[in-house]
Amino acid sequence: MIALARKYRPKQFADLIVQDHVAAALRGAVAQGRVAHGYLFAGPRGVGKTTAARILAMALNCEQRSPAGEPCGVCDSCSRIWTGAANLDVVELDAASNRGVDDARDLRERAMYAASTETRSKVYIVDEAHMLTREAWNALLKILEEPPPRVVFVFATTEPQKIANAAAPILSRLQRFDFRRIGPHAIIDRLRQVVEQEKLRVADDALHLIARSANGGMRDALSLLDQVLSFGEGPVTAARVRDVLGLVPDELYGEMLRAIVEHDAGAMFPLVERLLEAGADLGEFVNGAGETLRALLLVGVGGQPEGMTEGLLAVIRKYAPQLPPADVVRLLTILSESEERISRSANTRLLVEVLLLRTEPWSCRMSSRRSKARQPPPRRRLNRRRLSRRLLRRPVRSWSPHSPTSARSGPPSSPTRARGAQCSAVYWPKRK
Ligand SMILES: Nc1ncnc2c1ncn2[C@@H]1O[C@H](COP(=O)(O)OP(=O)(O)OP(=O)(O)O)[C@@H](O)[C@H]1O
Ligand SMILES: [Mg+2]
Ligand SMILES: [Zn+2]
Repeated sequence: MIALARKYRPKQFADLIVQDHVAAALRGAVAQGRVAHGYLFAGPRGVGKTTAARILAMALNCEQRSPAGEPCGVCDSCSRIWTGAANLDVVELDAASNRGVDDARDLRERAMYAASTETRSKVYIVDEAHMLTREAWNALLKILEEPPPRVVFVFATTEPQKIANAAAPILSRLQRFDFRRIGPHAIIDRLRQVVEQEKLRVADDALHLIARSANGGMRDALSLLDQVLSFGEGPVTAARVRDVLGLVPDELYGEMLRAIVEHDAGAMFPLVERLLEAGADLGEFVNGAGETLRALLLVGVGGQPEGMTEGLLAVIRKYAPQLPPADVVRLLTILSESEERISRSANTRLLVEVLLLRTEPWSCRMSSRRSKARQPPPRRRLNRRRLSRRLLRRPVRSWSPHSPTSARSGPPSSPTRARGAQCSAVYWPKRK
């Protein structure tokens, strides 16, 4: 059975979700015959970089291309390129395994003598382009500067800054497109389309959970759906998704919110116990706790959180009015401070228990009171007028023409007094 992520790879620019800015620019370039010789597609994993490069190659070589620049998606040439099958016109390279200068020279030679016919274009798609060495980029510099006609290079990368560091001059020879993360709403909409076409039954909450776990990548979302489907028969429920993906049950986030709002510190230990019994990853729980609090903050200011199941949203709405935003922000700070420590800790359980106790508002207040007590007393603000009055007074009081110091010429010489003397020169008693 073909994987959903491959089966539902878009065949036209119009099918690329979220990346409309890229789709519109490439479609326009094809329609007007203004396609550049080199492109850099940068963005997170699984958001459509390779797909866009293939659609561009399809559009350049499709005989039934629409006047707007869309490939037909069904002709022989289009389907060969779409499937990634061996093809004379499109060469896909993985820079992770062809990263050296020899590989780049080989690519250059092949591109120089590209045997495209008058009507066809040759497209080189280089995936994981940040893996190319500096020497490899140097070998490509010339051909990117003056490429042979009808040859297009597309470099795809998840780490554009590495290319900027290793081969800055290359960037000025490429047109750069930044692909966006795919938000939970867009992922859910796309998953719904797939579910409908596949005639599957998947609960809405289950889609929300998958979208949340996909973390902005459409490929991940489709692969997770595949994984959940292969796990059992019948309709896909949220519980099944949680089971298969090892997610933390939503009730536990609800219980955490209740305990925080009701100052129920005693409930935190059984909560961690239940998490461990459910086989949950504690690091993931802390992550989810952060997302839950963020959603609560959003609800508090009238926003609509994404990727939450209806059940958890109802709990969040219930508790939002009882937790002032300032408290939530403080809790989020505590969580984010602990996240890294938890990933490194050998005793995660204890850390999470302590963390949950710290999320208690009374603990925040206590610790802030305690830390205030530990602080040195605030420095009194310098009051210029009072200071100068003090300085003025001193020399007059401590020095008189009849005092033993009067034998010396001028005012006394200790630093303060000297300064005082300077300030109060006008008032200094005249020497006889
Ligand atoms: N923008 C999108 N619209 C619709 N489907 C998408 C989109 N992005 C990704 N997909 C789905 O995810 C699959 C993988 O996408 P693609 O190979 O283009 O990702 P990528 O950005 O090249 O990722 P990687 O950085 O891991 O190579 C596609 O086959 C498609 O099913
Ligand atoms: Mg790719
Ligand atoms: Zn076609």
